[in-house]
Amino acid sequence: MPKLEGTVLKVTKLTDRISEFCIGQRDGTALPGFTAGAHVSFDLPDGDTRAYSMIAFEPITPNPTEYRIAVQHEPEGKGGSTHMHGLTAGTPISFAAPKNDFPLHDGAPAVLLAGGIGITPMISMATTLRAAGQHFEFHYSGRSAGVMAYVETLQENFGDVFHLHCDDDPSSALNLDALITEIDVAAHLYVCGPKGLIDACRTKAEAAGIDNARIHFELFDAPEAQDGDAPFEVEINSGEVFTVGADQSIVEALEKGGVDVMYDCQRGDCGICQCDVISGTPDHRDVVLSEDERAAGKVMQICVSRSKSPRLVLDI
Ligand code: FES
Repeated sequence: MPKLEGTVLKVTKLTDRISEFCIGQRDGTALPGFTAGAHVSFDLPDGDTRAYSMIAFEPITPNPTEYRIAVQHEPEGKGGSTHMHGLTAGTPISFAAPKNDFPLHDGAPAVLLAGGIGITPMISMATTLRAAGQHFEFHYSGRSAGVMAYVETLQENFGDVFHLHCDDDPSSALNLDALITEIDVAAHLYVCGPKGLIDACRTKAEAAGIDNARIHFELFDAPEAQDGDAPFEVEINSGEVFTVGADQSIVEALEKGGVDVMYDCQRGDCGICQCDVISGTPDHRDVVLSEDERAAGKVMQICVSRSKSPRLVLDI
């Protein structure tokens, strides 16, 4: 896909760790349009990419002149957020056209739940739902209001449908059981945040009998390495065997070995990299599979999941 070349137009510090970036063309040329929930993948100097969801506080126009994103600095991460936080106004930046793996479902009432920096796609969703006159609730959960981006703007923009949940305030802290229990039978639940929040939502929603088709989620970051992560082997259909390092994903190890693999989010939430497991025991770290699928161990997401056995044989 051809890359777009743009410029960082403006950088605004929102909290100690979160900054907002407006990206566009210096001459105001229109950029490709997007829909609520879409993200843009930006190129990093090491050849990797990082995807960030687009923020819209005003109804999204077909030909926007800038993309607005917010990035939380993760000093322990793989370096994408550190690079982004080093950008200043005027810096050239290249990126792919917007893509949407987290779209709204037209016509249905919605419950939006954001955890931390997972707020970014939810802002565009809330703006779009409000413009369409559609019923929705908007929940934003985090450790404390001082470390959460856009709190005052969201309160002003969305009024009574907006609910702030702060862990350090028992009167407002998120009560997931109550939220799930009270969801309208026709509503769709959209969740963006850390893996723990998404896993908890899925488990509670399943227990409450909410159809999987009405739950939509997006992780805002790749799962972190876990203590005890060790190398293991992956055998593919050609008979070749690759070693996956302790700090490497299966996708990374296969690509390094010259194998062409399909993937997109590299966070474990889009399902594009899913492949069949012929033998071995996967260590699932995605948010795509249901509990039953995990237990069966017949498929896995190779961008984040690892192995509990010394070797996995995969249908690749
Ligand atoms: S690339 Fe999205 S789940 Fe693996």
